[in-house]
Amino acid sequence: MSSTDLKSRYAASSRWMHWIIFALVLLAYLCINLFELFAKGSATRANVLASHFVAGIAVLLLILPRLWLRLRNGQPPISPAPPRWSELMGKLTHLALYAFLLIQPILGVITLQIKGRPVELFGVTLLPSFVGQPDRALAHQFEEIHGTIGEIFYYVIALHILAALWHHFGRRDDTLKRMI
Ligand code: HEM
Ligand code: HEM
Repeated sequence: MSSTDLKSRYAASSRWMHWIIFALVLLAYLCINLFELFAKGSATRANVLASHFVAGIAVLLLILPRLWLRLRNGQPPISPAPPRWSELMGKLTHLALYAFLLIQPILGVITLQIKGRPVELFGVTLLPSFVGQPDRALAHQFEEIHGTIGEIFYYVIALHILAALWHHFGRRDDTLKRMI
């Protein structure tokens, strides 16, 4: 990467992280919305649901390295510079997205642990259940919170994507180019 590249785009590691995590979040959402299409008790249904868990756990494993890279590499300036309100909106949205990427999978893992359910994909146990005594009522409460946050972030993610498109096609600045 040339030095001009470093100033005008996110570092390659940060760009990779952004798009890998994007794909994992998309996979998590697809699996949770599709698993009920398969017959109850079928292996396919169980594996599609387990893929939701695995994609989410992968997000959790990547988010701390991603934040560390972001802090180390910094953020390239947007050219031409956006108005103050738009900069602030971006900062708030990104903060919310980072909080989501950290908290949402943790809530998912806690839910499964309290249910006493391991994560098993194609018959292989990837995350055992460590809780001896399941508590279905408490697990249900965590599942509700996890579900509500999942619903809310459809809108936050949509806002984020629309903002990226507005920067690119509306303002015609380099916001999106810095991330690809
Ligand atoms: C980026 C990560 C994740 C996102 C965006 C996400 C999102 C969602 C959404 C939208 C639902 C559906 C809620 C509903 O329809 O009521 C859901 C359900 C669920 N998620 Fe996640 N989730 C993530 C990670 C995880 C992880 C890591 C686990 C556990 C290892 C997990 C466990 C669950 C469970 C147990 C349910 C309920 C499934 C059922 O209906 O049987 N999630 N999640
Ligand atoms: C088509 C989908 C997406 C597009 C086009 C897109 C585009 C972008 C762009 C252009 C930036 C740079 C913004 C700036 O520097 O002001 C960015 C940053 C960011 N994106 Fe996305 N994004 C997408 C999906 C997602 C998803 C699904 C997530 C997470 C759920 C996400 C999380 C983030 C975060 C946390 C940042 C902040 C990076 C930083 O620390 O500066 N993005 N995205």
